[in-house]
Amino acid sequence: IANELSFSQKLNENPKSVVERDAILANPGFGDYFTDHTAVVDFKVDANGEGGWQNARIEPYGPILMDPAAAVLHYGQEIFEGMKAYRHADGSIWTFRADANAARLNASARRLALPELPVETFLESLRQLVSVDQDWVPSKDGDALYLRPFMIATEAFLGVRPAREVSYRVIASPAGNYFGGELKPVSIWLTTTFARAGEGGTGEAKCGGNYAASLAAQMEAEANGCKQVLFLDPNNDNAVEELGGMNIFFVFKDGTLVTPALNGHILHGITRSSVMQLAADRGLKVQERKITIDEWREGVAAGEITEVFACGTAAVITPIGELKTAEGTIASPANGIGEVTNAIREQLVGIQTGVVEDLHGWLTRL
Ligand code: COI
Repeated sequence: IANELSFSQKLNENPKSVVERDAILANPGFGDYFTDHTAVVDFKVDANGEGGWQNARIEPYGPILMDPAAAVLHYGQEIFEGMKAYRHADGSIWTFRADANAARLNASARRLALPELPVETFLESLRQLVSVDQDWVPSKDGDALYLRPFMIATEAFLGVRPAREVSYRVIASPAGNYFGGELKPVSIWLTTTFARAGEGGTGEAKCGGNYAASLAAQMEAEANGCKQVLFLDPNNDNAVEELGGMNIFFVFKDGTLVTPALNGHILHGITRSSVMQLAADRGLKVQERKITIDEWREGVAAGEITEVFACGTAAVITPIGELKTAEGTIASPANGIGEVTNAIREQLVGIQTGVVEDLHGWLTRL
């Protein structure tokens, strides 16, 4: 399929005022406010059974008109990505490892029987949206414009089969700390009531259903005074998997960084892979392996595990304070933000914001 799609542009006639936008940018929080435009590309399978992407456009941000029978509303045929656009000191705007997001979107598409989107169309959708909404990219330290590409099955059909009409969209939202306020260690709740994913399931796809399935556990976490929930794999010695919306890392006293190995049901975090690379660059030994909840408990007690942190595009790198469980609390090994956690965080954010050299070619100018 030829995919030289060019985007048409219909500008928002009622954009937010500069005053309103500046007020939002002064205190963006996470996920509460959206820019003035959205990027859209439609997919249709024609009478000959040929599928193609078409009608690429920028349009005003607003509600989506959809048939109540649209497959996404019934069967959750949906995938998404999370990425950020960063403003550098000279005003230029950059994105981080966008090619990895494009590849992961397509991996998720294959798992959810959605059409793959050409990488060039994905990248162009970001360029187009960020160009028209460039004034929404924060310049405040640590803030960025969170980009949320997503794909939904829009065909009105109640039979269970892959939809023949699909819509790909990008929305954008200025973002500060995911957990609100200043960076500080977060408390995590260990759920043993729920699992996030299983062998052969959708765990490694970035689909809405995984996050919907995390919510009952997240409510448990909040009822126990925690900000995020940790899932284990009950079929594998209670191996640590990931949090509701982020991957997890352990720093060992001997300079080893450990993260659960990708086992088919852990999200292939792009921050996760970047952290591994930056840690290796710093001379840390990096291990992707199985780490059980018992090893965590015993490792902290013995002083072997010195820091624990969560990471993701939204979470960036957030130190984990205590882990609360039904059987008691595993205390935070580090006091506040651990040294290794902080060093990797500074380096990652430094690359993203243009103050540390991008030795891996991770940035693309939008
Ligand atoms: C991200 O980190 O971008 C995610 O998609 C996770 C979500 C909890 C916001």
